[in-house]
Amino acid sequence: MEVHWVCMSAATLLVCDIIGSKFVRNLNGWYYDVKLRRKKHPLPPSDMGWPLIGNLLSFIKHFSSGHPDSFINNLLLKYGQSGIYKTHLFGNPNIIVCEPQMCRRVLTDDVNFKLGYPKSIKKLARCRPMIDVSNAEHKHFQRLITSPIVGHKALTMYLERLEEIVINSLEELSNMKHPVELLKEMKKVSFKAIVHVFMGSSNQDIVKKIGSSSTDLYNGMFSIPINVPGFTFHTALEARKKLAKIGQPVVDDRRLMIENGQQEGHQRKDLNDILLEVQDDNGPNMEDEDVRDVLARLKFAGHESTDTGLMCSITYLTLHPCILLQAKEEQVDKKRTRLSSQKQLSLKEIKQMVYLSQVIDETLRCANIAFATFREATADVNINGYIIPKGWRVLIWARAIHMDSEYYPNPEEFNPSRWDDYNAKAGTFLPFGAGSRLCPGADLAKLEISIFLHYFLLNYRLERVNTECHVTSLPVYKASFNCLAKVIKVSCA
Ligand code: HEM
Repeated sequence: MEVHWVCMSAATLLVCDIIGSKFVRNLNGWYYDVKLRRKKHPLPPSDMGWPLIGNLLSFIKHFSSGHPDSFINNLLLKYGQSGIYKTHLFGNPNIIVCEPQMCRRVLTDDVNFKLGYPKSIKKLARCRPMIDVSNAEHKHFQRLITSPIVGHKALTMYLERLEEIVINSLEELSNMKHPVELLKEMKKVSFKAIVHVFMGSSNQDIVKKIGSSSTDLYNGMFSIPINVPGFTFHTALEARKKLAKIGQPVVDDRRLMIENGQQEGHQRKDLNDILLEVQDDNGPNMEDEDVRDVLARLKFAGHESTDTGLMCSITYLTLHPCILLQAKEEQVDKKRTRLSSQKQLSLKEIKQMVYLSQVIDETLRCANIAFATFREATADVNINGYIIPKGWRVLIWARAIHMDSEYYPNPEEFNPSRWDDYNAKAGTFLPFGAGSRLCPGADLAKLEISIFLHYFLLNYRLERVNTECHVTSLPVYKASFNCLAKVIKVSCA
């Protein structure tokens, strides 16, 4: 009798627990359904998770597991292939879009969508001329910022110095007695490159100071925005201030040179000069703080993704010896057919390295360096019969497209040959975004990776210490211990 009673009570408690948690779990969804009941179209499918935290725990679980795609795959399995889902992440209701046409539509519609990054990123990447201005002003600043890094002439200017940075870095790495943290080392390479491009500075002290502050800033990007000492976000805000301080003397020096008419001795105009000159033209105004912000943003955006691109390209190649061999043969061939009078790489040669370019595209597809781009709806928008309510954030989930077997058969496989005569359909390849916010550094990043791979393939190989090392994608692609490895010199091809 007593056993029967205990079993009955336990079963009742279990049922209450299940019903109770189901009830609580649905509260968030009901709240938004009631709030939006007068709208003409329904919200996209899926659920809004728990009150307050939404689906954050599930997101963290999948993204830290090394299988980030299982997050979106679960949605697809549970709610069908609509390519648009509702969710609740980073303290806000969100709509996820992961179908090529819809992604393009959101990215190219500047009337109905504006940038919509989480609060932590908004504060840390604050940059008035790139973010808090009208579309027309953004276009003006975007053109200005892009001019020193886009096009044949601009890129040719950096080639020699980028080559020097790569050659010296690889030599230094191969001289190290102990394994190195590959990601950290790639960060140094991309950082030296970006400081040279934007500030024309090879001052090692500045490079070092900026480097450590930039890492602190990066770590705070997806942190909880609590500005109290001890919290990651606070450290990141402090790092941001330090970055601005480090940049100020460079801005001041350059301004003095311009005022004294001394810039002729200065070989070329870098972005610093261009931004300072803008203060005198008839375009939208740029304060000193804006110049510092733009430089900080470019330095940050310019090296924190390229380092991962560099690291992934050599680790993927090392994991696939046949692909590495094919890539190496192309480089050996290029070097062999080069005129003996030509000492350095040329842009023309790089453009002819078809297989290398495919290796880079495949790296960008597989690594999915930016897990999503963020927008916010400025009006109610109807997409495929579903509503994206005004004020909701939209996550353009490009990695789901890059990993979709409909566009990339056997998507998990690293296979540069898939790009042979392949023309990606609109919206199916978005490593650099699209529309007016398309990454202005795409060509520069690909140039840096090409130069690095050229010298790496000719003269070095990588020996990983922990090939099975855990990879997390939270918030961005990262291998544990930053991928420990030795760079070994093999020959001087
Ligand atoms: C492999 C390397 C890189 C990747 C994967 C990458 C990816 C991206 C993506 C996806 C966006 C679009 C963000 C959005 O739409 O919200 C973006 C924007 C941006 N990127 Fe890159 N990027 C890389 C390298 C660079 C470099 C080298 C620079 C600078 C020289 C740079 C500067 C910027 C800037 C300034 C923006 C903002 C543009 C705007 O808001 O108008 N990026 N990047």
